Amino acid sequence: MKQIWRRENLYQFAKAKLSDYLFICVSNREPYIHSYRCNEIKCDTAVGGLTTAIEPVISAIGGIWIAHGSGNADRDMVDSKNKLMVPPGEPFYTLKRIWLSDTEVNDYYYGFSNQALWPLCHAVDIKPIFNEAQWHTYKRVNEIFARNVLEEIKDRRSIVFIQDYHFTLLPRLIKKVSPETIVAQFWHIPWPRQKTFQSCPWREEILIGLLGNDLLGFHTVRHCRNFLTTVNRVIGDSKVNYEKAEITIGESKTEVRPFPISVDFEQISRKAQGLDVKEEIERLKRELNLDDKLIGVSIDRLDYIKGIPRRLMAIGHFFEKYPEYKGKMTFIQVTVPSRMDIPSYRDLGEKISALEERVNLKYAMGKWKPIVTMVGPLPAITIVALMSMANLCIVSSLHDGMNLVAKEFVASRHDNDGVLLLSRFAGAAGELGDALLINPYTVDQLAAAIEKALVMPRVERYKRMRRKRRLVKENNIYKWAADIISSLAELT
Ligand code: F6P
Repeated sequence: MKQIWRRENLYQFAKAKLSDYLFICVSNREPYIHSYRCNEIKCDTAVGGLTTAIEPVISAIGGIWIAHGSGNADRDMVDSKNKLMVPPGEPFYTLKRIWLSDTEVNDYYYGFSNQALWPLCHAVDIKPIFNEAQWHTYKRVNEIFARNVLEEIKDRRSIVFIQDYHFTLLPRLIKKVSPETIVAQFWHIPWPRQKTFQSCPWREEILIGLLGNDLLGFHTVRHCRNFLTTVNRVIGDSKVNYEKAEITIGESKTEVRPFPISVDFEQISRKAQGLDVKEEIERLKRELNLDDKLIGVSIDRLDYIKGIPRRLMAIGHFFEKYPEYKGKMTFIQVTVPSRMDIPSYRDLGEKISALEERVNLKYAMGKWKPIVTMVGPLPAITIVALMSMANLCIVSSLHDGMNLVAKEFVASRHDNDGVLLLSRFAGAAGELGDALLINPYTVDQLAAAIEKALVMPRVERYKRMRRKRRLVKENNIYKWAADIISSLAELT
């Protein structure tokens, strides 16, 4: 058995390796968001594993998190330097909030980040929109973040750890002014094939920006290779060493590495064993009329990369092809609305509702209907309960950097039961080969895979789930951070 990384080991490790440095994390989404609800200020924690992974590091070596202040009560919580101590209740590090105007948010976040780079990198049904004005605002926002990062660095030895595609220009902007600073970035989405990336009118500027990083991380080896090839084709004076996964331009060198992100396995597994989850399962079964039913579940952000319409078509096809399951199997689709200011996301919401209605109208019998929909965000306890009570979980992304729902499902199955149907095009498929790997584009194959999952013998279900659990346990979110720390330490 390999070492299991925990919050405490990560803390000690970061302290031993990097304690001479100031650690600055930069992301678009802030780890804590303050909003007015019923005339009171409430604080929400950003979903996902990033905060879980970064906080032990910041607490070990000291640091600051810089992010866009997006909550409507955010301004009321900061000091004159736009800073506050977090987490609320047990504050130990500084969150510095960056204010952006509505136009900046529209052009930089909804515009260039999510209507150009997001579809460009996922390369599915929706095509990128390249808009010059949005690109200019995106550049300006990168400059705003750069100024704020540099203000914190002053002349201190620092490591800047940047998150995601919102900040492709930031690494170079920091390096230009502060070449001694170690700059690293993690790209949370896929990197496309070089031919696809070539369609971006500002490809060179973006790549030069990213090559300001000393270390650039992706989820998978394939994304790393795609990036190396893209640079090789686009940047004439770059030297790409495929063996070492390194890129040199003049004096600067960027190491490109895979770091598959993960979840807090033990925390989820423990939570799933709690009495409150048991009670929540009973409540859900009672209220949704699921007592003697087989249950399928999917939980997604409402995004066109998740393959939700084809999945719902496959559910319809499943009842057509296997009518013996009518009245016996219920599929629960949880969707969490996201980026609703973008037309393609709104259209998707409407398309999904229409499909659900169509399938339900066609196959419902008495009190039973094939698809039950729930709109998130749902409380964590409900999510864990849904995952724990399901016979199968479908992750049918058309393309996904990693997909943490797949890993959360595995972590919640302390009973070793449940079947994961996982898209071949999600980064998680590279690690979770024991899932039923599916092609999310073929509706009838997906329907057949649902049937296969439902008739899978118990012994096989257990064997597959046990192997997946060991893998996610060993490769948890703390290991993700520890691997990045090790690579950063080599750069010091
Ligand atoms: O997968 C990329 C990502 O940025 C995640 O880091 C994040 O959880 C998700 O997309 C949603 O992003 P947002 O709501 O901040 O646009």
